[in-house]
Amino acid sequence: MLERLDQLLERATRELKDLRDLAELDEWRVKYLGKKSELTEIFKYIGKLPGDKRPQAGKQANQAKSTLERAYEERAEELKNLQRDALLQRRVDVTLPGRPINVGRLHISTKTLRTIYAILGKMGFQVFEAPEVETEHYNFELLNMPAGHPARDMWDTFYTTREGVLLRSHTSPGQIRAMKHFCPNPIRVILPGKCYRYEQVSFRSDFMFHQVEGLAVGRRITLADLKGTMIEFCRQMFGADRKVRFRCSYFPFTEPSVEVDIDCILCGGRGCPVCKQTGWLEILGAGMVHPLVLENGGYDSGVFSGYAFGLGPERIAMLNHRIDDIRYFFSNDLRFLSQF
Ligand code: DAH
Repeated sequence: MLERLDQLLERATRELKDLRDLAELDEWRVKYLGKKSELTEIFKYIGKLPGDKRPQAGKQANQAKSTLERAYEERAEELKNLQRDALLQRRVDVTLPGRPINVGRLHISTKTLRTIYAILGKMGFQVFEAPEVETEHYNFELLNMPAGHPARDMWDTFYTTREGVLLRSHTSPGQIRAMKHFCPNPIRVILPGKCYRYEQVSFRSDFMFHQVEGLAVGRRITLADLKGTMIEFCRQMFGADRKVRFRCSYFPFTEPSVEVDIDCILCGGRGCPVCKQTGWLEILGAGMVHPLVLENGGYDSGVFSGYAFGLGPERIAMLNHRIDDIRYFFSNDLRFLSQF
């Protein structure tokens, strides 16, 4: 046994000297001091020796073990020093230019939203937030679309598995929430946020997008107020000499309803593929808040009147930056996003 121990010590120390780094040292430790090492075998064997032989053998094995442990510690220290020295000898060229740091930036939708807030904020509109997960009651009923109303088909809606709960298909339900919140005071708010539609995704429509709803309620508010506000908004958003026109339209929650167009910012009204040769671009829907909707918000429609509008930041950004596919906005392609 003594011979075996000697051989083991000799082999282990020799191998230890040849190790080149700490990883190899670790392998060495497992091999010679680990649970499955030869030394462990020897200890097991000693356990089975007759009583009078055991103490002497045990002593020798223990000695061998501490020799190996000490040798291990020393070599570890040496290897660590070697590693450090190697690092210190590496040359650093302090004159090399630094690596550029990737700076994050605002998403194009966020930027457009902030421009919209800035323009409307100066006109006295404050931001009011409403939930993205809505009830059918707010998304439709209180906006003058009772169950079965054909106008509900204007919005392809994501319903949840919970009866009567859906992802809002437009920001208009926030109008009712704002009215309930501010009633009986006058209101001038914008409601920005995400909307969801169960829609065939294409270059012109995605299943998620932003809207900014506007709502003004007070005494003696008229269509002229809506027109003035929209014309000023369009000129600040799209250019000072934009032509703006109002077309009759239909929304269940406004009466009368309009759609607002600007002369095509690409062709200046001469006709091009973007405006489909009409010379006009549709920008937003709007109208005078329907008396029933005012009442649903808690206002006396005999005393109060109001206007509302809804616009799409992505559509606005597409026009202002000539982006021809709405799917770019939320597909997280940095080649697209970092352009803005
Ligand atoms: N909610 C409408 C939509 O998603 C947009 C809209 C039209 C909002 C007219 C309004 C409005 O406030 O008065 O298509």
